[in-house]
Amino acid sequence: MEEIKKKRIFSGIQPTNVPHLGNYLGALQNWVKLQDEYDCAYSIVDLHSITVRQDPARLRRQTAESYALLIAMGIDPEKSIVFVQGHNPAHAQLSWILSCYTQFGELSRMTQFKDKSQKHPENINAGLFTYPVLMAADILLYQADCVPVGIDQKQHLELTRNIADRFNNLYGETFTVPEPYIVKSVAKIASLADPTKKMSKSDDNPNATIFVLDDRDTIMRKFKRAVTDSGCEVRRGEGKEGVENLMSIYAAVTERSFEDIEREFEGKGYGDFKTAVGEAVADSLAPMQERYKQIIADKSYLEKCMKEGAEKAYKASRKTLQKVSKKVGFIVL
Ligand code: TRP
Repeated sequence: MEEIKKKRIFSGIQPTNVPHLGNYLGALQNWVKLQDEYDCAYSIVDLHSITVRQDPARLRRQTAESYALLIAMGIDPEKSIVFVQGHNPAHAQLSWILSCYTQFGELSRMTQFKDKSQKHPENINAGLFTYPVLMAADILLYQADCVPVGIDQKQHLELTRNIADRFNNLYGETFTVPEPYIVKSVAKIASLADPTKKMSKSDDNPNATIFVLDDRDTIMRKFKRAVTDSGCEVRRGEGKEGVENLMSIYAAVTERSFEDIEREFEGKGYGDFKTAVGEAVADSLAPMQERYKQIIADKSYLEKCMKEGAEKAYKASRKTLQKVSKKVGFIVL
């Protein structure tokens, strides 16, 4: 019987911050699940992160930590390709080629470029401008069919599709044109300090965000301080965004319905509810945190995984780079 080839998924994450609960419940947990159905390649995109100034020692440490965290979360380096972007030189190579098939005007319209250049007016470098081309190279190198991305990256994915189409029209079928992978029914997690805002890694309020490596005491403290309302009923409703957010988190980590949760906390106050949510979150993160501690302490294991990941990534992308090089007229040895 002929084996059915699985579809390819590609996604990337910047190493420059520990993911928060929103990233975890909304995206990363799904990366883990996708491994059953798809042939997945996941990358820690260190090249992307130097578009803003980084402290070198910190970047190095965070790259290792992010890598360890992906494995601790359940990304299986045997099953999937897990690698550091900079370890496969093909990304930078294809990115250069594709930049010659991307228009200045297209890149100027990218809202993330506009936002980031406003935030860092002192360092509007060319890399910040061509960032989406490198992202296109990441995706197209692996002939990805689907790319799980958040809403903030949809414009970049649309550009990737345009670049792929353009290249295919000029030179014949070369790249798979990737589809966005829209995650169904993921919990949208808001800030604990202001439920009208998304949970964010760069919130000024330290109690607004739960990071996936926060210890139990920190998690409990943050949930105890979570903003609710002047009422006392655990249910959804007008002006109850804070409670609803806590309910969403509780529902996501315990896999229970809102109705179930309302029933459980009938007649109980917010204090009890916050404690229960904090405990449920701490419990659900604990096994992953334990694995993380083991992996990050085992330098040789981490290095071995990175090396094998880099090799697999190189092998999976080499053919595409060669094909592209030939098509544009380079001598391929
Ligand atoms: N730009 C993405 C982000 O900041 C990270 C990224 C880089 C990515 N390359 C990618 C995501 C390829 C999906 C596919 O979140």
